[in-house]
Amino acid sequence: MQTRTGVRSERVAAMQARELARFAAGHARSASLRERAKASMPRGVPMSWMESLYEYPPVFAETGAGSRFRDVDGHEYLDMYLGDMSGFCGHAPVPVVEAVGRRMAEGNHFLLPGEDAIVVAEHLAERYRLPQWQFTLSATQANTEVIRIARQLTGREVVLMFDGKYHGHGDPTLVVLEGDRTVPELQGLPGSVTGQARLVQFNDVAGLEAALAPRDVALVLTEPVMTNVGIIEPAPGFHAALRELTRAAGTFLALDETHSLVGAYGGMAGEFGLATDFLTVGKAIAAGVPLGAYGMTEEVAARSLPAGGHQLAMGDAFAEIATGGTLFANALAMAAGRAALTEVLTPQAFDRARELGTRMADGVREAVAASSLPWNVAQMGTHAYYGFAPVPARNGAEARVNDDPDLRALMRLWMVNRGVWESGWWLGPTVSVAHDEADVDEYVAKFGELLDELTHPQRENTTP
Ligand SMILES: Cc1ncc(COP(=O)(O)O)c(C=O)c1O
Repeated sequence: MQTRTGVRSERVAAMQARELARFAAGHARSASLRERAKASMPRGVPMSWMESLYEYPPVFAETGAGSRFRDVDGHEYLDMYLGDMSGFCGHAPVPVVEAVGRRMAEGNHFLLPGEDAIVVAEHLAERYRLPQWQFTLSATQANTEVIRIARQLTGREVVLMFDGKYHGHGDPTLVVLEGDRTVPELQGLPGSVTGQARLVQFNDVAGLEAALAPRDVALVLTEPVMTNVGIIEPAPGFHAALRELTRAAGTFLALDETHSLVGAYGGMAGEFGLATDFLTVGKAIAAGVPLGAYGMTEEVAARSLPAGGHQLAMGDAFAEIATGGTLFANALAMAAGRAALTEVLTPQAFDRARELGTRMADGVREAVAASSLPWNVAQMGTHAYYGFAPVPARNGAEARVNDDPDLRALMRLWMVNRGVWESGWWLGPTVSVAHDEADVDEYVAKFGELLDELTHPQRENTTP
């Protein structure tokens, strides 16, 4: 049957069966490690996503260098997923390897500040244009603390986000729309999460205004460009309206650059010149060593974390906002962050990677045009996304309608079987600062071969 995507569904099913068999035949060692792991870890993985994010059994990884990594069966993969953007520095970037080695040798955690923390905070302040910074171990925790600060300073509870968002696995952000209703996104969450969160469609200024009107929203949390349902660009004027409406409603604004920071040196907020009260980052800022951070204005910092903090006493109700954790801002993470930000994620590295991003997006676009499939290709600097509709989605609702999970799963599997680690279903391919022209050309060539096979059933590509 011909589908909306232009690819016949029987073709997808037939190719999927063949590719799954090929995958199983080539991953015997991963399969056997997984069987062993099942005795000590549910589903045979140390963290459930390592199984649930993929449409095939988990691959056990061994080593990585630059733009590639190897698995335990000896396959090498060109990495276009980058560990969900956290590998944007490339695998094993030398400055970070050296900084982490030095730091471990000299003590990695003291529950005390060190000079690296100042350098990282100064650097982030200059790069993301907010003066005051705090650190966590992940972007989830950075968003969690920002939400708490906004709630405390406004005396309100509701967090407003955009349909199709992902801001980490903290309770306040894990809601989705079911029709018009907001429901918990996953199991194990209190029913109360739905009363504390509101979702509207990205780019819908009228919907945003209506959702802010009750003046009960503490914070709007959004990415500058949505990245977790493909690439959804802000319509002209949307961000200006968002800033104006949040100010008018007495609501704080937080821009989550955890993914979109790969788009431009100063993040996409810098690219668009956006003003914000908070900005959160994580993942790539320390080359995948756990480090999250949030920036805030002087005014927010002074009101939320005033000088002369509270002295802890046993059994005390702590008169501060609930932030912090024992390992947050540990010396190892700060050393990794310093090396990654100042020596790897440089303006020159971004210039080069963005050029490669354009080469990749153009190549993918040409392959789509050559196949005559009714697809669109969007680009955010180093990152691209191919959508199965003639024009890019403007919001999460449209993105879901346009997608075809079976086709996307097949494409990923086909790529894996040919040495390309394609991104998850919600993202598209990304070029890291360690990729080069040959990497991009290899990706584009394989993408073209795949489209050729999808649209010409008589051609069967079984080449490695
Ligand atoms: C935009 C955004 N914010 C926050 C997060 C949470 O990051 P982490 O899982 O590292 O805490 C993610 C993860 O995908 C994300 O995409």
